[in-house]
Amino acid sequence: MPELKILPDTRSVAHVAADAIVSAAESAIAARGHFTIALSGGNTPENLYRLLATEQYRAQIDWANTYIFWGDERCVPPDHRDSSYRMAREALLDHVPLPAGNIFRMRGEDEPHSAAEAYEQGLRDFFTRREADVLVQPRFDLILLGMGDDGHTASLFPNTDAVDERSRWVIAHYVPRVEMWRISLTAPAINAARQIMFLVTGAGKADTLREVLTGPHRPRQLPAQLVQPVDGRLIWLVDQAAAARLPDGMQRAADA
Ligand code: 6PG
Repeated sequence: MPELKILPDTRSVAHVAADAIVSAAESAIAARGHFTIALSGGNTPENLYRLLATEQYRAQIDWANTYIFWGDERCVPPDHRDSSYRMAREALLDHVPLPAGNIFRMRGEDEPHSAAEAYEQGLRDFFTRREADVLVQPRFDLILLGMGDDGHTASLFPNTDAVDERSRWVIAHYVPRVEMWRISLTAPAINAARQIMFLVTGAGKADTLREVLTGPHRPRQLPAQLVQPVDGRLIWLVDQAAAARLPDGMQRAADA
């Protein structure tokens, strides 16, 4: 059963998420000398990134030993309005003392399949050098994920072959629903993480959140159900609006 935390509003979701990131960074750096986090795109995390850039939080993270990755990216240039990298750079990365070499962006400006292959090779180089001689999966300390109202997460969209990928860590595919090419971590790469944190807010997500958390297991239609860490912690941080359709018992347990 994943951990479910229901917060009053988007602001409190951002604060709880920021505190969790500070804590994950502290323990990862204490244990292994570095903290690896994969960011998500979309609107929900932007408030969180801006909060992490404030003096209150910026000073709590050892940025020199923090390494930034992405769970997915839109196949657009890094300065494009749709770029998840651009959003994170403007909201956070430009405001913290993070060495440029600690940022591993997905190259949305390149041919998608070669960009996905290059990103996977970059993960192999990074995680093999730091984590283990024989590498099965990249083991991020923390992966942030959002969830679309169609149940997609990262860029694993319903009824696409990306949902079924079990050997590659990174894939590129054209997504008809959003009429664009996307690059995404696959379910095996996501599920190898030490910790995965979903941030889901807004009434528009309430029906889908109930289906994902309490409905039948049908990950091809609800790719967020793919997220089941093999040996890690899964936390859902949701606001009351998104939690409004969850069973009362689940809401009581979450508020406990
Ligand atoms: C993206 C994401 C995507 C996002 C969901 C939720 O690049 O869009 O990675 O998976 O997390 O679409 O987006 P919102 O937070 O905007 O609802």
